[in-house]
Amino acid sequence: MSDSPLLQIADLWVTYRQRSLLGLGGTSFHAVKGANLTIRSGETLGLVGESGSGKSSLANTVLGLVPASSGCIKFDNVDLASLGSRYPLPVRKQIQAVFQDPYSSLNPSMTVEDIVTEPLRVHTRMSKVERRARAIELLRLVSLQEEHLNRHPHQFSGGQRQRIAIASALALQPKLIVLDEPVSALDVSTRNQIINLLYERRDQFGIAYLLIAHDLALVHHISDRIAVMYLGHIVEEGPSDRVYKSPAHPYTRALLDAVPLLDPARQRARRAQRKLSPAQETQRVAETGCPYKNRCPLVMPRCQTETPPAYPVDGGGVANCFLYASDQVRQSEQRERKAL
Ligand SMILES: Nc1ncnc2c1ncn2[C@@H]1O[C@H](COP(=O)(O)OP(=O)(O)O)[C@@H](O)[C@H]1O
Ligand SMILES: [Mg+2]
Repeated sequence: MSDSPLLQIADLWVTYRQRSLLGLGGTSFHAVKGANLTIRSGETLGLVGESGSGKSSLANTVLGLVPASSGCIKFDNVDLASLGSRYPLPVRKQIQAVFQDPYSSLNPSMTVEDIVTEPLRVHTRMSKVERRARAIELLRLVSLQEEHLNRHPHQFSGGQRQRIAIASALALQPKLIVLDEPVSALDVSTRNQIINLLYERRDQFGIAYLLIAHDLALVHHISDRIAVMYLGHIVEEGPSDRVYKSPAHPYTRALLDAVPLLDPARQRARRAQRKLSPAQETQRVAETGCPYKNRCPLVMPRCQTETPPAYPVDGGGVANCFLYASDQVRQSEQRERKAL
């Protein structure tokens, strides 16, 4: 893992505009609001948050599938945000993607060989024979075999289809793979197998991952850092272990509490403790103040009117929460005392 940022996202906004039926006016919806993120070479950043928080919008902007409305996405020192969807081929080659549902992302009429060798056909001058040989290598990397080459996606289980999607993403030895909920559609034991597979291939090839999930517990082992997203905002970011073991932002704490527990009695007790209903969770939040103020059990008067900036947190990383504002004062006082 090197120290140079591979992907640097600064003050990224993603806005969807919906025209009214008569074509007059219309509304704007900000799905990503001023996100800042950094991924270094070979590093895995886990991006977590509940459904609708803007994770896919952020990912699709990195992939050039959705335009950024403002901000900067620097990949290997190229500003992708200014390129729209016209990424030059050398950049396109370096950023690959795996999506949640391999059934809709894999073309059903193509064979596994066609799917896995498609990136090689587009980006390299390899002959058909060379591509076939590489396809066999790639299938072995995801624990599938040569005999699978001539089959079609529907002949595989969900987990196997995701292995095919991963093989295709690995074909060009990219620097970054964007994985948008790659295991959410799979059963629990298959999830762990796919996460382990991703873990092994990452360490083998030094690939960086932007790994999106709604389950923090599932991705914390594989992630170096975790960013937590809520209603378009990144509300916390930091080293994976710190975020998982000592979540700083009240939303991250709630997200960890919401992880299903195996013991049904404990699950019931947790559910009873939860203060807000799902209906309240989706209620519209006014743009002023903290985005989490309507759900936060620790809300303070200033959270209603001021938007919290990113404050450093003990153990590393930041949380956009006024609970840590006093820590910042304390830390700067300590620094001043040391400097004297
Ligand atoms: N193409 C679109 N047009 C309008 N709104 C969209 C579009 N795509 C997503 N959204 C909205 O943006 C918000 C964030 O969505 P998304 O990025 O898919 O979140 P997540 O991946 O975290 O579930 C949601 O409220 C969703 O309804
Ligand atoms: Mg999504």
